[in-house]
Amino acid sequence: MDLKILPLENLKPRIEDETKLDFGKQFTDRMFVMNYRTGQGWHDARIQPYQSFSLDPAAMVLHYAQEIFEGLKAFRRPDGQIALFRPLDNFRRFNHGARRMCMPEIDEAFMLQSLKELIRLDADWVPRAEGTSLYIRPAMIASEPMLGVRPADEYLCYIIACPVGAYYKGGLAPVKIWISDHYVRAAHGGTGEVKTGGNYAASLFAAREAASKGYDQVLWLDAKDKKYVEEVGSMNICFLYDGKLVTSPLKGTILDGITRRSVLTLAREMGLTVEERAMTIEEIFAGAESGRMTEAFGTGTAVVISPVGQFTYQDRTVKLGDGQTTGEVTQKLYDTLSGIQYGRLPDTHGWVELL
Ligand code: COI
Repeated sequence: MDLKILPLENLKPRIEDETKLDFGKQFTDRMFVMNYRTGQGWHDARIQPYQSFSLDPAAMVLHYAQEIFEGLKAFRRPDGQIALFRPLDNFRRFNHGARRMCMPEIDEAFMLQSLKELIRLDADWVPRAEGTSLYIRPAMIASEPMLGVRPADEYLCYIIACPVGAYYKGGLAPVKIWISDHYVRAAHGGTGEVKTGGNYAASLFAAREAASKGYDQVLWLDAKDKKYVEEVGSMNICFLYDGKLVTSPLKGTILDGITRRSVLTLAREMGLTVEERAMTIEEIFAGAESGRMTEAFGTGTAVVISPVGQFTYQDRTVKLGDGQTTGEVTQKLYDTLSGIQYGRLPDTHGWVELL
């Protein structure tokens, strides 16, 4: 398929202060878009000015949420070059989600080539300030106007991008996590492992309750026993327990995070034993109180690595250390991963894709 580059007439105002970027509020000049129709396949791939879509009010995504998305980043390196981090892994996961949501698959290599072209054209938007990056959001939505419940026959696939700073206002400062004893995020056989909007919409109610009590995120327990740790709102979760790195296994209810995968590889290389097993809520409390659990952190593209300072479940609260200091292993993993992403450390895994 050809990729058309449409002319851009007006440039948006540039970023005023790269040290004050909010997450996901300001978008670059251009976007990638392509259309799909059953019988015709993907067509009209183009890079065009960033603009609103015109969607029929009956577009199926607006009613039945047939939608998937991804999140990846481009990093500005000290020599000015731009690097994408594991972009093909994102497009592979996108296709995995497309199959589960009865949506058409994309050509992963074509998406990568189109993404690179988009970022080359919008290269000015990749920020340079410490800790900043360009967050990239590929998405696919069912655009066919129809109110019957079935897979749509028309889709839009697009990529937008926004320069970002830290996801949490506190940067690498430890976050406070509220463990929900009532609401659940995903059950076996559901769509928990898919990056689909409905999972996130369903999490908002509990997230709002957590925020109203002063917590940053919700930690979800399994839907059946409400006992085993699954994941946190926008990230996977890891614990340092008896000196081992423990994280929830991939059994269909949590996201197969690309940052999670990278962190597990780096942890093993640092000599840590990695256990992919379900931690219980009791282990968190007993472990933190006895000192067997020394650190906990979330992983995700947006947050990268986010240390956890405190867990609350019902009327019990436990802090890790003083609740405000980033643990040594967490810091080392963050420094190593971000070092590879920003080109300060060598990429020995082939994770980095230079433009
Ligand atoms: C990401 O980390 O890329 C995500 O998609 C999380 C998001 C909901 C901000």
